[in-house]
Amino acid sequence: MTCAPDSPAGPSDAASPYGPAAPAPGARPARPVRVHHLTRAKERGDRLTMLTAYDAVTARILDEAGTDMLLVGDSIGNVMLGHDTTLPVELDEMVVATRSVARATTRALVVADLPFGTYEAGPAQALASAVRLMKAGANAVKLEGGRPRARTVRALGEAGIPVVGHLGFTPQSVNRLGGFRVQGRGEEAAEALVADAVALAEAGAVAIVLEMVPEPVAARITELLAIPTIGIGAGARCDGQVLVWTDMAGMTDWAPRFARRFGRVGPALRQAAQAYGDAVREGSFPTSEHSFDS
Ligand code: KIV
Repeated sequence: MTCAPDSPAGPSDAASPYGPAAPAPGARPARPVRVHHLTRAKERGDRLTMLTAYDAVTARILDEAGTDMLLVGDSIGNVMLGHDTTLPVELDEMVVATRSVARATTRALVVADLPFGTYEAGPAQALASAVRLMKAGANAVKLEGGRPRARTVRALGEAGIPVVGHLGFTPQSVNRLGGFRVQGRGEEAAEALVADAVALAEAGAVAIVLEMVPEPVAARITELLAIPTIGIGAGARCDGQVLVWTDMAGMTDWAPRFARRFGRVGPALRQAAQAYGDAVREGSFPTSEHSFDS
């Protein structure tokens, strides 16, 4: 996303009223992405970018790179905390991660996941959980599920909390879904997915993540809704894309089929750690330039 119609008057690059994603030293800071920009981006045909972030140092880099939305995903469970699924993630852990990401972010919209077990009981439970994430600095929360969540999405919206929906493969339901499987295959399943998406949009969701959904189904939902769809394993016809940052950056040896590695950060980090170890062992680090006089 590169532009917004509500830019204040003043010197600006007409093609990019937010200002550059990473302003030059001394330049005006980039204008933050906010929820009303999402639908405008869709109307203009501007594609939205979202990456996960779980800590301040990474969030700062991804924000400076011009990522439109940073998702404090409950994938923190698998990616950072060593769990096999997202199910063990606690709200307290999400609050710490959200606070860290929000402190380091100046432009991107920060979206925080409501973890498993913190919203399914209904609007009151969801509101209490979402308020903690918003107080930690989130600009919106994300929750999984379709029509059964519509009431909750509406209640959060009425409380001033924007909600991003999440349909298709919903990792918190991995046990019911029977594994990491594509969702929405076949006419009946596709119709159910479309009905879920429409229900979330009507309830006031500001965007919907579509995960592991056949491309034609994701395209149909995208055409039907005024709010943007953000795909992950849902083909190229969504309004935006999201990836787990470690998959995007090539941090690990394995990545899902729908991800592309845009870097080799893992091997670079391993190489740096090995070079550091070698330098300490052979005595070439530290030198006088890293030492203090008395
Ligand atoms: O938690 C997460 O990383 C997510 C993305 C896969 C969309 O929900």
